[in-house]
Amino acid sequence: MSRLKALPLFSLLLSLSAVTVLGQSNGEVRLAVNGLATGSYTSGRVQVYYKGQWSNICNTGFGSYEANVICHQLGYDSADNHSFAAVDSYGIDDHPTLLANVSCANNNLHIFQCSYEETFSCDDRNDVSVACSSTPVWTDPHQEHLRIIPSRYPSMGRLEIYLSGDWDTLCDNGFGEGEANTACRQLGYTYALKYNHISDMEGVHGRTTQYTCCSSSTDCIDSCYCNDDGAKRRKRIDIICSHDDDVTIECDFDEKEKEDAGTRDECDFTHLDKIIGTIIGPIFGAIAFIVIIFLLLLFLRHRMKNE
Ligand SMILES: *[C@@H]1O[C@H](CO)[C@@H](O)[C@H](O)[C@H]1NC(C)=O
Ligand SMILES: *[C@@H]1O[C@H](CO)[C@@H](O)[C@H](O)[C@H]1NC(C)=O
Repeated sequence: MSRLKALPLFSLLLSLSAVTVLGQSNGEVRLAVNGLATGSYTSGRVQVYYKGQWSNICNTGFGSYEANVICHQLGYDSADNHSFAAVDSYGIDDHPTLLANVSCANNNLHIFQCSYEETFSCDDRNDVSVACSSTPVWTDPHQEHLRIIPSRYPSMGRLEIYLSGDWDTLCDNGFGEGEANTACRQLGYTYALKYNHISDMEGVHGRTTQYTCCSSSTDCIDSCYCNDDGAKRRKRIDIICSHDDDVTIECDFDEKEKEDAGTRDECDFTHLDKIIGTIIGPIFGAIAFIVIIFLLLLFLRHRMKNE
């Protein structure tokens, strides 16, 4: 092949590889059937983007907590089941199996919040697969719940927030690094690789809202406050914003900053209210009961004195 012909082919290959790298953040998860991952499978052999390549997970130490975290990261509520021999249902796969002894807590949101070990001796027949429930993770949202409507991978897409019964998009006006990092941390990642840079999202027609004043150390979007001369100002502004200016985001996971990643329910302050409610409620009940008994005794004593 002449050099003139080889050059365009070379640049085509370059641009193709650039496309496949887009959105493969560290610890990105996808499911594969017969070696093919489409992004739309709800069940399949688990693949994790690890050290620059897609890897399978060895079945040693794998269980339902780990399967749940994987499904949660993919945007589903939980795993219906998992198997220790993906090859039986999902065919062959030529990716290496580098991760073993993955161990998660039930409030983890991202596979790299879990502990794991690197292996070079796990046979492909021991790869795990999961089948996720078809219920999206945001079916029962709390106030200021965040979600990403994925474009290519779960970690990148349009950012949306649940406010008073509706999912709103966010306006990019005033949305910067602090807001993007806070959103990614709330979602279980450690930082935002990019924001407002994904142009292939289709428009939506809902409300938009604007957030500002999140610092790079804020963990929940609900905790963003502006500080004007020491006075705390509301962080959210209702404005009219074109959907062309909707925030899109790409989150990533830096294992050195693991502790920064949010966990399940960490930003659900209504959940905290509910917990406080279940503690305060019985205490008030008990106090009321004691007061009633006390008043009853006073009343009886009063009557006995008068007789
Ligand atoms: C996984 O854990 C088991 C049991 O603790 C251990 O024997 C094995 O060496 C570990 N595997 C890897 C790859 O670290
Ligand atoms: C696992 O769950 C899926 C639904 O998510 C179901 O279709 C499949 O039959 C289940 N497999 C087993 C072995 O229970």
